[in-house]
Amino acid sequence: MARKFFVGGNFKMNGTIESIKGIVKNLNDAKLDPNTEVVIAPPALYLLLVREHLKNGIEVAAQNVFDKPNGAFTGEISVSQLKDSGINWTILGHSERRTILGESDKVVASKTKFATEGGISVIWCCGESLEDREAGKTIEVIEKQLAAVSPKIGDWKKVVIAYEPIWAIGTGKVATVQQAQEVHAAIRKWLKANVSETVAAETRILYGGSVNGKNCKELAKEEDIDGFLVGGASLKPEFVDIINASQ
Ligand code: PGA
Repeated sequence: MARKFFVGGNFKMNGTIESIKGIVKNLNDAKLDPNTEVVIAPPALYLLLVREHLKNGIEVAAQNVFDKPNGAFTGEISVSQLKDSGINWTILGHSERRTILGESDKVVASKTKFATEGGISVIWCCGESLEDREAGKTIEVIEKQLAAVSPKIGDWKKVVIAYEPIWAIGTGKVATVQQAQEVHAAIRKWLKANVSETVAAETRILYGGSVNGKNCKELAKEEDIDGFLVGGASLKPEFVDIINASQ
C-alpha cells in the first residue's frame, strides 16, 4: 500500500486572529495536491476559529493533549474536548515540550495512548540533540523514544512519526537529504523488527526541521521521507509549495 504524502503545519505559539485567518484563507484558495494529506496545528486558543473557517479536507491538530479524562486539571485540554470541537489530530512529543516543559518519554507515551484510544490521531515526534548526534548516538536515542511509545500504541493507523533533529528546528540548518533518509530508514527498520512488517510499510515518517519551499522537493524524493512537519514556513505562503512538494 502506497503511503499518502503528509504535511503538517505547526504554528507553535505564533499568530493572531487576523494572521491565522489569513493563513486559512491562503490554504482555502490555493491549489493543493489532492494526494497530500494536510493537517495544521494552531495554538489551542485558535483551534475552533481555524476549524470553522478552514475548508473540508484539511484537518486541524492540537499541539498537545492531556492523558486524563475531563476533570480537575487546570490549564489542560482533554481528548474528548478535541473530538467535541472537530479536532481529530494532535502533535505529541515535540522536542520543545520534551525539553522546555520537561515531558519524559513516559509522559509522551501515556498521552499517545490516551489520544489514540480516544480516537485522536497523533503526529508523534522524536529526534536527537546536537550533542547526541556528535556522540554518534542518533539512532540509539530515536530507538529509545520509539521503544517507550510503541507498546502503548494499539492502532498504528492513528499515528504518523515525525523525525525532527533538535539542531535543525528553527535554526535554518536543515538535515541533509542523506542524514534524514538514514534516520527514516532506521525508524522503518525498527518498526519492522519490533512492531510488524505491515506497520513498517504503512506508517508515514515525516521529516521536520527548517523545511522550506526551497529544500522540500529534494527531501520529498527520498524513499522513506513521506512528508514534513513544518514550523516557521507553515506561517508563510510557501507552505503551499511544501504541501505540493511531491508533485
Ligand atoms: P521549523 O520547526 O520548521 O521552524 O524548524 C519544525 C518543528 O518544530 O516542527
